[in-house]
Amino acid sequence: MTRHRYDTPINKDLARELFNFWEEIFGPEDPDIPIGVFLGEEADHNRHVVLLERDGDVLTGTCGIMMPRANPNFAGIGEVATRPEYRGRGIANRLCQQSLDEFAEQDGEVVFLGTENPAAARIYHRLGWRRIANSTVYANVTNDDSPEEYLADYFRTPSTVNIAPGDASIRVPMIPLLLTPHDWQVLDGNLPTPMISTRYAEQNSCMGLYRKYQYLLAPSSQSEGGRERAQRERRGMLAEWFAAKTDDGRLVGIATAFVDAENVCNVDGFIHKRFNDSYEPLIGAAIKWGEWQNSVQFAARLSVEDEEKQAKFETLGFRPTPSPLQGEIKRGAPDDAFTISEREVPAVSLMLE
Ligand SMILES: CC(C)(COP(=O)(O)OP(=O)(O)OC[C@H]1O[C@@H](n2cnc3c(N)ncnc32)[C@H](O)[C@@H]1OP(=O)(O)O)[C@@H](O)C(=O)NCCC(=O)NCCS
Repeated sequence: MTRHRYDTPINKDLARELFNFWEEIFGPEDPDIPIGVFLGEEADHNRHVVLLERDGDVLTGTCGIMMPRANPNFAGIGEVATRPEYRGRGIANRLCQQSLDEFAEQDGEVVFLGTENPAAARIYHRLGWRRIANSTVYANVTNDDSPEEYLADYFRTPSTVNIAPGDASIRVPMIPLLLTPHDWQVLDGNLPTPMISTRYAEQNSCMGLYRKYQYLLAPSSQSEGGRERAQRERRGMLAEWFAAKTDDGRLVGIATAFVDAENVCNVDGFIHKRFNDSYEPLIGAAIKWGEWQNSVQFAARLSVEDEEKQAKFETLGFRPTPSPLQGEIKRGAPDDAFTISEREVPAVSLMLE
């Protein structure tokens, strides 16, 4: 057995070999991290290391670790996989341990990963990972705090907040933000699968959280109808997102804006409650973007139970519209309810007046 370590970008042949291997193990669904990232697309934003073992030429096991350049306190691990014939020989254990060592060298604070596989969870637990409540995401906190203690402390320090367009630098920092239980149920109803607070629904995604936003920003051509695609080509980009970051580089909120086929700009987003004062500028940035796209109207679709969020939108000038069952007012989004832990919670539609 030989062990190998690569900093991305890696060459195309190796990337193809890895993606074929992962497809055999994880199946055909979209990978959490697309191949372009391995070829260097996000090199400015994230340091990304791939560790693997071989038996002669045979690729036997892999593990990847991503560390944001602007937030070296955090890392996210993914692509933990061992070829079935080689399982139970300690390969995953060794590769995850090496990833942790790699992270410890830069004095990192916490490494996140996600798994629904109990065999993997046992390995992770032995290496120091602890499950974050109401999720299948695990955090390995280097000072031995529980994940919940770490997350509460992380967001405690006040700071000035700045709003900037979202980019790949938040791939890992969005994990602690989205794994913190927030009071609002629906954090972002714009996403194809609405983002729900872990206070209300289990979160089963870790390194795949970024992808959930990417589906709004750059839906794959298969999921887009011809009409949507033609419209997209005509208008250019139809969605944008914004990150609320503290002066000391913490990600504390995310908003999205999406222009639909009726040229209505749908906006939504959330912020950690300690930074509530910056919610209006965060949503304001999404609205401003919609204005640049010449949107005719602005809409938001919220859970009826998220009354505080609704009050925030009303402060921004939004007003509830009658549901299509009661009236004829055009709505920004088609669904009438959110599914939150198998419970249907009615949605309320708001329009900016
Ligand atoms: C989960 C997975 C990565 C584990 O890989 P692995 O290389 O078999 O893991 P390890 O060998 O390190 O550990 C597995 C078991 O073998 C044991 N083991 C470790 N070293 C060993 C050795 N030298 N000899 C024999 N057994 C060993 C471990 O103690 C562990 O025991 P457990 O089943 O009681 O927990 C692998 O099963 C896999 O690829 N699964 C599908 C993909 C997946 O779910 N990935 C993780 C989530 S993203």
